[in-house]
Amino acid sequence: MTPLLNVTGLQRHFFVEGKNEWLADKKILRAVDGVTLSVQRGKTLGIVGESGCGKSTMAKLVLGLIPATAGTVEFDGKPVTAQRNRAWRAARRHMQMVYQDPLGALDRRLTALEQVTEPLLIHENNGEIKPAVAAQTMMRAVGLTDNLFTRYPHELSGGQRQRVVLARALVLKPSLLVCDEPISALDVSVQAQVINLLDDLRQQMNLTMLFISHDLRVVRHICDEVAVMYLGRIIEQGSAKEVLSHPAHPYTRALISAVSTPGAKHATAGSGRIILKGEPPNPVDVPTGCSFHPRCAMATAHCKTSAPAVTRLGESHTVSCHLHTMIHHGSGS
Ligand SMILES: Nc1ncnc2c1ncn2[C@@H]1O[C@H](COP(=O)(O)OP(=O)(O)OP(=O)(O)O)[C@@H](O)[C@H]1O
Ligand SMILES: [Mg+2]
Repeated sequence: MTPLLNVTGLQRHFFVEGKNEWLADKKILRAVDGVTLSVQRGKTLGIVGESGCGKSTMAKLVLGLIPATAGTVEFDGKPVTAQRNRAWRAARRHMQMVYQDPLGALDRRLTALEQVTEPLLIHENNGEIKPAVAAQTMMRAVGLTDNLFTRYPHELSGGQRQRVVLARALVLKPSLLVCDEPISALDVSVQAQVINLLDDLRQQMNLTMLFISHDLRVVRHICDEVAVMYLGRIIEQGSAKEVLSHPAHPYTRALISAVSTPGAKHATAGSGRIILKGEPPNPVDVPTGCSFHPRCAMATAHCKTSAPAVTRLGESHTVSCHLHTMIHHGSGS
């Protein structure tokens, strides 16, 4: 089956000022540096990794909100580019985004109902159902009661606002929903409600999702597949169950051990909690060889000079780590 979303060799580099602002000292920041992934229809792919590893930049590239430096994004078999032409607008209807901060995503001057009706007025409508009626139906589906419809964003709770954002994203019946940290700005008490709602909606609407999160417990709950990003690259990928229960990359093990996900027996390789050394390196100055080597307790001299290739560990489980290339080539065991 052709995947709904196909990303190949995607890169986005930014030019940023170097340390010396007096010299024309431009440096290249490799925010996304060669990502290849695909998502089958109806499946949810989680993207995890520390702050600054390129998750949001990748989400923007997938939706064609910013241009790529290199690589391709294909949605439903058609290329997605950042050119705001007719094809882009037609595709955007089917690809919606939910951001971290619901207040920032909403227009303070519009009521909840107006916010949800707006996309139906912007995009061509087949005229079968009145926009306001379709909006109300969607609002009820996300658990908003009728008395909230005429409220403005500042008159709603954080959880209610995120439901309005969800209704606004889903009212066009998209096939792909990109969620960028959709619950991290919410009160802990409502996080689970919103996650359960998303889980129900994706099943009811047969949504395909790209789900960006710091929270591995949530990823385990909601995602079919997971991709672990480090410095703009995917270093491990596979079924969420497999990767989170049997993480192969030392970085994934460290992320998991930091939250001690229930059931992740192998997270710590039997040695207790793994503390990552130091801060994530600067994407302006990506380490040579394996970019994780300066923080890796298992790094060898080889890791400092040679970038690991992708190694297949199982049907859907891949990792980029010399520990595994050595095992698979029989030279390191
Ligand atoms: N417009 C831009 N200009 C320059 N650098 C940028 C720009 N947008 C993002 N970056 C840089 O690209 C890198 C990746 O940023 P991105 O926002 O994608 O990270 P993230 O994984 O979403 O982080 P977080 O978990 O904190 O949201 C960061 O170093 C960031 O500073
Ligand atoms: Mg982000």
